[in-house]
Amino acid sequence: MRENNIIFKKLSRQIEDLLHKKGSMLYKLQCISKLLKDEVPHYDWVGFYFVDQKNPKELILGPFEGAPTEHAHIPFGQGICGQVAEDEKTRIVQDVARENNYLPCNIDVKSEIVVPIFKSEKFIGEIDIDSYEIAPFTDEDKNFLKKVANMVSELL
Ligand code: SME
Repeated sequence: MRENNIIFKKLSRQIEDLLHKKGSMLYKLQCISKLLKDEVPHYDWVGFYFVDQKNPKELILGPFEGAPTEHAHIPFGQGICGQVAEDEKTRIVQDVARENNYLPCNIDVKSEIVVPIFKSEKFIGEIDIDSYEIAPFTDEDKNFLKKVANMVSELL
């Protein structure tokens, strides 16, 4: 897992740099999604969901990289993303086939990690990552993605 840590360190620096460049918030989130998907071998779909301002008990899909998803709106409580919206805690599902409350994106997805994003301690959205591997996620992913969530929250 040493290799992942090297990738995560490099990505943290790249994301930090990106945040200070010119460009809209949506463009930067799109770049971060692409960077994570392209650079981390076990990240196959990377995207952001945000609390819908018009419907605060629903998540709305933001920028993402990977296969299109039908889950552009997710009510709180539904699926992995909706559960994270409810209890505001990071969730790792190492095998989605064993999860009852799960919204399938495509049949290749085997596992998922969802990390909440907070702004001034208020839950505002989340980073959602799908993997085509079973059980690829470790505490290193969790710590790295929490860091990314903190960096991203500066943009919002
Ligand atoms: N699988 C998610 C739905 C979103 S897609 O992964 C993009 C879930 O169960 O909440």
